[in-house]
Amino acid sequence: MRTQVAIIGAGPAGLLLSHLLAQGGVESVVLETRSEEYVAARIRAGILEHSSVELLEAAGLGARIRAEGDEHRGIYLQWPGERHHLDFVDLTGRSVWVYGQTEVQKDLIAARRADDQEIHYEVSDVALHSLEDRPYVTFTDVSGNPRRLDAAVIAGCDGSFGPSRAAVPAARVHERIYPYSWFGILADVAPSTDELIYAWHPNGFALHSMRSESVSRLYLQVPNGTDPQSWSDDRIWDELSTRLGHGQNGWKLNPGPITDKSVLPMRSYVQTPMRHGNLYLAGDAAHIVPPTGAKGLNLAIADVALLGRALIAKFRDADQRYADAYSDDAQRRVWRCTHFSWWMTTMLHTSGDEFDAELQLSQLRWVAGSRAGATGLAENYAGLPIGY
Ligand code: FAD
Ligand code: PHB
Repeated sequence: MRTQVAIIGAGPAGLLLSHLLAQGGVESVVLETRSEEYVAARIRAGILEHSSVELLEAAGLGARIRAEGDEHRGIYLQWPGERHHLDFVDLTGRSVWVYGQTEVQKDLIAARRADDQEIHYEVSDVALHSLEDRPYVTFTDVSGNPRRLDAAVIAGCDGSFGPSRAAVPAARVHERIYPYSWFGILADVAPSTDELIYAWHPNGFALHSMRSESVSRLYLQVPNGTDPQSWSDDRIWDELSTRLGHGQNGWKLNPGPITDKSVLPMRSYVQTPMRHGNLYLAGDAAHIVPPTGAKGLNLAIADVALLGRALIAKFRDADQRYADAYSDDAQRRVWRCTHFSWWMTTMLHTSGDEFDAELQLSQLRWVAGSRAGATGLAENYAGLPIGY
């Protein structure tokens, strides 16, 4: 098999890249270890920033976001006794959208199918070869046959566990592991809030998010290594009620049937450069952020916007400049989002240290009480323009 761009990974980064390339007249083949059903059902991120929605709309993928997504003007920041709304539209003119990664993934799968895109699901033994010269990928297909895919370029969109990131020799890795995890639940109950609540509490951080008018998504800060099955449903709702301020100014958290429980470790990870020879990395293959800033999916989309443009210029116009600049261009936003996600995380998660707690509360009061402070958070959360 031969193509212009071999894309490893059919997550949001890989499928959006193949979509943008097809629109620019560039051919690709996508390889994915999981099944299509698995990829479409994975529960992950829930918030799209302004630029992500603009980009998806420009790519013809905005119809369901507009019809079924929920536009939010901002978020609530809270700590015991106080809840403050930050209005991003008022502060920066930009909003965010509640639209789950599962839905983005389904829209991408439908669009790629409509285009007859070649996607090989359930492949194994994926290996990258000859990256500085004539690259190719070897793999075993779903029927057990060994295959070889030759390409001019390989796009490593295979997330944090794929083989692409390790194929960049002498890469520099910057990493921070946090001493806590997120316990996430999905519940069949109407959200108890109109917009997301990010709550600081002495017991630990809590977040009230949502997926639709009838599905809520909530998170609790828990120690690393927590077994989600060791928490009863009652204990989860009690702790969420405490941390989210049930009863505070008459606000109530409505519990409901829990349909999914999972624990997510938190880390920051940046690998640089994001290119080696004819291999280009995008999304989680190159970087991971803790979820507190809702940046992971948005950053993958922003990488792909740059990489798509670079590869279209390379193949259609024989212009290598954007491809050569890709890693540096992408890293500018990667580090901005890495800082923002770290900042949100360290401001909102407790460690048991009283000095840290006072600093956090002071920071929260300033962010919520000062237009300058609130604008800084809003600008980063609603997202900087693509190409920042
Ligand atoms: P992925 O979505 O990881 O896609 C990579 C794809 O490559 C996968 O389909 C994988 O199966 C495939 N692959 C792996 N190895 C190979 C191989 N050898 N060959 C071929 N294919 C391969 N972000 C937020 O902003 N908010 C959240 O709440 C949030 N929750 C998350 C929960 C979890 C459990 C995880 C893992 C991530 C979460 N994220 C969240 C981060 C966000 O989901 C990611 O940033 C986003 O999925 C990145 O997209 P991607 O396409 O780069 O990577
Ligand atoms: C989610 O809805 O899953 C979500 C929302 C905001 C975050 C993280 C996760 O910061």
